[in-house]
Amino acid sequence: DFMHEAMGLSVLERQLKEKLQLNAIMVVPGNSDSHDWVKQEMGKACVTYLKKRIKSAQTVAVTGGTTMAAVAEMMVPLDDGADCLFIPARGGIGEKEENQANTIVAKMARKARGDYRLLYVPDPLSETAYQTIIKEPAVNETLQRVKSASVVLHGIGDAMTMARRRKTPEDVTAQLKENHAVSEAFGYYFDGNGNVVHKVRTIGIQLDDLDSVDQVITVAGGHSKANAIASYFNKGKRDMLITDEAAAEEILKM
Ligand code: G3H
Repeated sequence: DFMHEAMGLSVLERQLKEKLQLNAIMVVPGNSDSHDWVKQEMGKACVTYLKKRIKSAQTVAVTGGTTMAAVAEMMVPLDDGADCLFIPARGGIGEKEENQANTIVAKMARKARGDYRLLYVPDPLSETAYQTIIKEPAVNETLQRVKSASVVLHGIGDAMTMARRRKTPEDVTAQLKENHAVSEAFGYYFDGNGNVVHKVRTIGIQLDDLDSVDQVITVAGGHSKANAIASYFNKGKRDMLITDEAAAEEILKM
């Protein structure tokens, strides 16, 4: 629209889309590091896009984080997406309650007037607990639905910020530093080239599963996440990025 043009955001979008080789992009004005309303604008953009894309009875898998919480905050009834199902993409990844995927999908479903399922899984998960839990019929049923999701909504985090926020053990944090972890998404940590350097053991979507997902919508912004976003998209699925001006400008300087 006019404002978008006037603010030069369309130019930023074209350049960033090309640089990161994305299929689609949306850049909102501002810097979400310093203003919460910018995160909400990204949330709103995500909801608008989802509303256009979603079809009846589809499954939407969602990760955790404050950005996804902002998407939930801005959610509206999805006309064509009536009876769609919201589901956590992964078991809880050690976050505050309001930032957990379980809390977020429940809120999204309520506002979208859809349905939801939860994944009650501790995190991190020991290998033995993992083997037992995936055999639980209720968990298994939810996992099958996660694997057949048509849409995935996810955030990207700065690796060290996420490690701190999730109270990651010292030895793991040291290993992340040693391996130059830059970004985090879906419980995977990536280096500057987008290679996986660590993975939090939990159930749910694995990176390879994304290949068969129709629409992966990434929402991440803020000046502080520029490196993380660029790192993730070296290898990550490049369907749709919703970001902000500050992140976009910083990535274009690289
Ligand atoms: O995996 C990425 C993080 O969940 C992103 O969290 O949106 O609070 O920065 P955030």
